[in-house]
Amino acid sequence: MKPMTSAELRSMFLKFFQDKGHAVISSASLIPENDPTVLFTTAGMHPLVPYLLGAKHPAGTRLTDVQKCVRTGDIDDVGDFSHLTFFEMLGNWSLGDYFKKEMIPWSWEFLTSPEYLGLPKERLAFSVFAGDENCPRDEESARLWRDCGVAEDRIFFLPKENNWWGPAGLTGPCGPDSEMFIITDKAPCGPDCSPACSCGRYLEIWNDVFMQYNKTQDGAFEPLAKKNVDTGMGLERTICVLTGKKSVYETDLFENILGKIAELSGKTYGESDTVTKAFRIVADHLRTATFILGDDRGMGPSNVGQGYVLRRLIRRAVRYGMELGLPEGFTGEIAKVIVEQYKTVYPELTRNAAFVLEQLALEENRFDKTLRQGNHEFEKIAARLEGTVIDGESAFHLYDTYGFPVEMTLELASEKGLTVDREGYEACFRRHQENSHAGADAVFKGGLADHSEQTARLHTATHLLHAALRKVLGPEVAQKGSNITAERLRFDFSFGRKMTREEIAEVEKLVNESIAAAVPISHVETTVAEAKALGAIGLFESKYGEKVKMYTMGDFSREICGGPHAENTAELVSFTIQKEESSSSGVRRIKAVIGAKADS
Ligand code: ALA
Repeated sequence: MKPMTSAELRSMFLKFFQDKGHAVISSASLIPENDPTVLFTTAGMHPLVPYLLGAKHPAGTRLTDVQKCVRTGDIDDVGDFSHLTFFEMLGNWSLGDYFKKEMIPWSWEFLTSPEYLGLPKERLAFSVFAGDENCPRDEESARLWRDCGVAEDRIFFLPKENNWWGPAGLTGPCGPDSEMFIITDKAPCGPDCSPACSCGRYLEIWNDVFMQYNKTQDGAFEPLAKKNVDTGMGLERTICVLTGKKSVYETDLFENILGKIAELSGKTYGESDTVTKAFRIVADHLRTATFILGDDRGMGPSNVGQGYVLRRLIRRAVRYGMELGLPEGFTGEIAKVIVEQYKTVYPELTRNAAFVLEQLALEENRFDKTLRQGNHEFEKIAARLEGTVIDGESAFHLYDTYGFPVEMTLELASEKGLTVDREGYEACFRRHQENSHAGADAVFKGGLADHSEQTARLHTATHLLHAALRKVLGPEVAQKGSNITAERLRFDFSFGRKMTREEIAEVEKLVNESIAAAVPISHVETTVAEAKALGAIGLFESKYGEKVKMYTMGDFSREICGGPHAENTAELVSFTIQKEESSSSGVRRIKAVIGAKADS
C-alpha cells in the first residue's frame, strides 16, 4: 500500500531494503567528523566515505538508513515551494556487493509496485550518464531500465554536469548516476525539454549513484578497487509527490510546525504570498536550527563555521517572525513542536532539548534587542545612498553594531534593488576582527580529510585527549565536535568554564604518559550495549542495535568510533595543547599538535 505519511515512507523504505539483506543503520551526526571540507552532513553517503573507499563496515556490505542532512547553499531560495535547508535522505548502499543489475530493478520495483510506492509508470522518467573521457556511456543502465519496461523516450542520456555524483567534498568517492524523475503536469518547455532543464516538468525523487572512482587531490579519477552503489531519496519531496501536495510545506512534516506559527501569529498560511513565504522561512530555518542544536555534536551560534550558519538561520527566522508578528520567545515554542514531532526518529532531540531551548532563547534575545534599531539604521543607509551599492563599511557597521549577518544585509538590499560591496565588507571584517572567518573559509579550502597516517595519529590523540579531559574535569565532559587537518587536531567538548593553567598541564601530562606507555591499539566489533557495559565512551547514536567498532588504548581510553587509528600510542611521539578557548556557550575548544615521526 502506497505510504501516505512520512513515517510510513521511512519504514517502508527501510523494510524494502531489509528484506533484500540490508542492515538498518542509524542516522549519523549532522556534524561530519574529521572532514574539513564541509560543515554539515549533506548526503547519506557522507558518513560512509571510509567504507566506500574500502574500509570494512561492521554491519556488512549492504546498508540502509534515513540520514538527517543540512544543505545551506540555497538558503536564500527558501520560501518557495521546494527549497529546504534540512531534509531527510532515505538511502541504501552496496559496499563492493551488488551493482547496477540488482539496483535498477529494485528501484523500479520500489517506485512502481503497488506493494510499495505504486507510482504510475507513465509518470516516470530516467536519466543515465552520456559518457566522457573518464568514464564510458552508461549503456548498461539504459538497457536495465528498458528491461524493466521503460519506453525509449523516457530514458535520457545526460552529460557529467547532470549525471555524475560526488565527491561530497573536494575529493573522495564518486561516479556516474542514474536519476529518477516524476513527470509533473507542466507541459514540456520546448522540443529539447529534458530532466536537465529547470522548467519544473521533471522532479527528481531518487538517485542511484554507481560509485566507481575516487577523485584525488590532483583532480584525477582513480578507479576504486570495489564498485559501490549509493542511493538517495529525499523524504520530503517524495511524500509530497505521493500525496499530491503542491509544496513540501504542505506535507505532514510541516503540519504541526505551520499550525503553531499560525496559532502564535494569528495569521493564516496562504493568506498572501508574503505571509506564505515568511511561514516557510520560519518553519524551515527553525527546523534546521533545532536539528543542529539538538545533535549530539551540536553547538551554539557563533561567528565561525557551523555556528555562523546556525546564527544566520536563527536570525533570519527572527526577522521573518517579526514580520508575522510572532511574540517574543516564539523560536522556543516552535522548537518544542519540532522536538515532539521527531523525537521517536531522532531521540537525540529529546536528550538535547534543554540546550536547544536555552540557545534559541539566548540568540533570539541577543538579536531581538538590536533588530529593530538595525532595520532603522538600514533604512537610513539606504535613504542616503547615492547609486545602488551599499559600501562595505556600512554593511560591516550593521554586522558589528546590530548583529546583521552580511547575508541578511544583502537580502534586505536586494528587496530594494540594491547591492552590497561584499569585498569591501570582507576587508573591513578582516581589519576589525582578530577572530576572522579564516576558520570557516579554511573548511572549504582543505582537501577531504584523507585517511592518511597523520590523520590516524591525530585521531588517536583525540581519543587520548577526550579520556584525559574526563579524568581531569569530570565525566560531564562530552565530545561536541572534532576536526583534523594535516597540522593539528581541534576538539570541542561540553564544559562550563575556562580551564585553569594547571588543568591544561595535567591533561597534557596524562596524554603524554599514555604515549610514553607505548600501548598497542586494538579494536573489536560489538554492539552499543556491550560497549557501554565495558565502559566505552563516544556517541551512542545507534538505535538499531547494529554492530559498532570499539577502540581500546590500554587502560587509557575506550571509545566507540569508526577509526582509523595509529597502531600504537607511541606513534604520536608527543602531545602539546596550543590553545584552550570558548567555542560557544557551554562548549570549550582545544587545539593541539603531536610530534613528528622520526621516519617521516
Ligand atoms: N549521494 C547521492 C545524492 O546525494 C545519492 O544524491
